Amino acid sequence: YKIYVVHGPNLNMLGVRETDVYGCLSLEEINGKITILAQELECKVSFFQSNHEGEMIDTIHDAANHYDGIIINPAAYTHTSVAIRDAIASITLPVVEVHLSNTHARESFRHHSYCAAVCIGRIEGFGAHSYLLALRGLCDFLQDKK
Ligand code: DQA
Repeated sequence: YKIYVVHGPNLNMLGVRETDVYGCLSLEEINGKITILAQELECKVSFFQSNHEGEMIDTIHDAANHYDGIIINPAAYTHTSVAIRDAIASITLPVVEVHLSNTHARESFRHHSYCAAVCIGRIEGFGAHSYLLALRGLCDFLQDKK
């Protein structure tokens, strides 16, 4: 399978940004871990990061032509963006929502996700492992669908 991993705003700052909440790994190091697991699961992963809502929407639309599924951490847009939710709803690919932190253990403005209802599932609170769990889950989902 070909899986697209989409990272939202400020995730380029991982490793530097609020390390008590998000851990010490950089985005590149997290992507490295995802790549290693992907090799084990015999799937191909590609990565995208943007701090811009419109760029995220464009890449979600485009992914429909190139990938079998998406893992997305919409970051702060999770809690604000109807447009990203609608982009996910506009494609037929299975999408898994991921967060490093347990958003429900944090400020109340992080408790609502616009994206959750249009994703097949949601994994959060396991730090970088959230992405790895999502990759396993998405591969199993795609396998079952066959
Ligand atoms: C986050 C959680 C969001 O609330 C926050 O805005 C982020 C990161 C996470 O991965 O834990 O930027 O998506």
